[in-house]
Amino acid sequence: MPVLRDIAILYRCAPDRDQGQVHPVSDAALAWEDGIIRWVGPARELPPSYHGWPTSEARGGMVIPGLIDCHTHLAFGGWREQEFVERLRGANYLDIAARGGGIAATVARTREMTTDELRRRAQGHLAAMAELGVTTVEAKSGYGLLPEPELRLLEVYRDLGQGPQRIVPTLLAAHAVPAEYREQRDQYLRLLTDELIPQVASRGLARFCDVFVEQRAFSVEEGRRVLRAALGAGLRAKLHADQLSSGGGAELAAEVGAVSADHLECISTQGIAALRRAGVVAVSLPFASLYLGVQPLPARELLAAGVPVAVATDFNPGSAPSFHLPVAMTLACTLQKMSPAEVLKGATLVAARALGLEQETGSLEVGKSADFAIIDAPSVEHWLYHLRPNACLRTVAAGQELWRA
Ligand code: NIG
Ligand code: FE
Repeated sequence: MPVLRDIAILYRCAPDRDQGQVHPVSDAALAWEDGIIRWVGPARELPPSYHGWPTSEARGGMVIPGLIDCHTHLAFGGWREQEFVERLRGANYLDIAARGGGIAATVARTREMTTDELRRRAQGHLAAMAELGVTTVEAKSGYGLLPEPELRLLEVYRDLGQGPQRIVPTLLAAHAVPAEYREQRDQYLRLLTDELIPQVASRGLARFCDVFVEQRAFSVEEGRRVLRAALGAGLRAKLHADQLSSGGGAELAAEVGAVSADHLECISTQGIAALRRAGVVAVSLPFASLYLGVQPLPARELLAAGVPVAVATDFNPGSAPSFHLPVAMTLACTLQKMSPAEVLKGATLVAARALGLEQETGSLEVGKSADFAIIDAPSVEHWLYHLRPNACLRTVAAGQELWRA
């Protein structure tokens, strides 16, 4: 039951219609017990009953809700730096995929790895993310494709989610059609809807089901089939939508009541209106826009229309080979013209909404999980402007210290 004191500025990031409102509190204090926030506010107003509690010093740092990376492809084998070089020479992502590179290349490397190796590698990434202030990580399967290797990835996430850092697993078997089913798409879809999805749902191995709706991946019609089966089994829907072309992915997200639609670089005006009507969160992935050299999603149009915009890394070996969420946040400012405050909210409360976790985490409010990071910066504006390897001094999840500089 500690009280954190000497906080120069704390951002509560409470729910608000305006994503740019982050509720700063100067000279703040924060108290928690059994992993739950009990009190937060200006230190001079701390009730006397807390005065005897053990004190922890923030040393004049800035306190933010624990960062939430709400879109990653956390566990995979190998890397694909040669494709990065090919793309620099002009090759295009979909052409590389068509000749067996891209997702298929990572699927082959992932299937070769033992469960132990996959777990150890992902664990290393999670520890490095914790050093950056990240307390919650969404993690997709999608590099196994066949049921057995997909289940293995989800089991890795289940094992890694036993500690205070929260792991939110998503089934993304509809990432690509595996080579084994290239000539039998329909059979692959039936394998997903009739076997894998019911099994994943009944074993509680995933909270969400995601589909990559794109040319050379899955059509809107196929996405609808997979997501309807997932909803029927009790999973919630997410989509990789309108990343490389505008193909009705956002409209499908709205139709099936998805919790989020992610990427959206090519979203149409009708797509924006559909997300707004259905209350779907837009997840921006600035690393993927940057690495693939496509225009960023229209964040200003989305926000103006009343669609909240989350910010995540998309960490994967192809389009986004970095788990550095604070760098992605700076890119969301420069590429997407979001304010630092909007971006902070996008990687905390709005990201929690994109995971259906807004009652548990994402803001510093009484009753929520004590998930926070202490940052060595005078303000969120200064933090995201002055790019450093790591400005995070301490990370706490569910009241437990994950990391200290
Ligand atoms: O989110 N768009 C599809 N999936 C990933 C890329 C996966 C890969 O290239 O390995 C993405 O960008
Ligand atoms: Fe992705």
